[in-house]
Amino acid sequence: MRTKFIFHLQRRRSISNWLPADLGAYLRGEPKVRQVGDPVLRETSSSVDPTVIQTPEFKILINNLVQVMRNKNGVGIAAPQIGVGLQVFALEYTGQHYKRLKEVHGFSDKEIKRMGIALVPLKIFINPTLKIIDSNMLAFREGCLSVAGYSAIVPRAKEVEVSGLDDTGNRVTWRVAGWPARIAQHEMDHLKGNLYIDTMLYKTFVNNEWQQFAK
Ligand code: CO
Repeated sequence: MRTKFIFHLQRRRSISNWLPADLGAYLRGEPKVRQVGDPVLRETSSSVDPTVIQTPEFKILINNLVQVMRNKNGVGIAAPQIGVGLQVFALEYTGQHYKRLKEVHGFSDKEIKRMGIALVPLKIFINPTLKIIDSNMLAFREGCLSVAGYSAIVPRAKEVEVSGLDDTGNRVTWRVAGWPARIAQHEMDHLKGNLYIDTMLYKTFVNNEWQQFAK
């Protein structure tokens, strides 16, 4: 099905080799999460032609993105992480995430409050821009599905405003503080080819399983 979106991707392909040969099959498959080292994670993503947002292929891309994020227990994911260098990211913070933080990772109510954890229903941003509202920096530990198994403390602005298109093509503006603001900044970074390891406090970088090796 050679719709407008496929043509859009093919045009991109002429200037970049990040797309696999069979675009239709790729979009219908189950993409893996690309890992640090993959050049697609270091490219600046292209903006999405707004006229393709309603095409079936673009909807498949969005569905895949959300599916991969949920399968991996992520709270955010950007399109380059599944090999597509377009300016699209998804984020959500569910009750399950909150429960895991408390019960599996043992965070106290006080810590959770300090981190500014808040539930966020699924949000999709296309061609987003980000404005810092409160530039006070908060430093907390975060990870990334593309740096699987590791985490580090990363300073991030306290409050931001994200503007862009949602998955129906409507213009949306979202002003948010605390943990969701951290996720938004992390995902915006992906669209610029930046990873948290570029701005982390280096000596706080850990293998999440390090204790397993110290027994
Ligand atoms: Co990430």
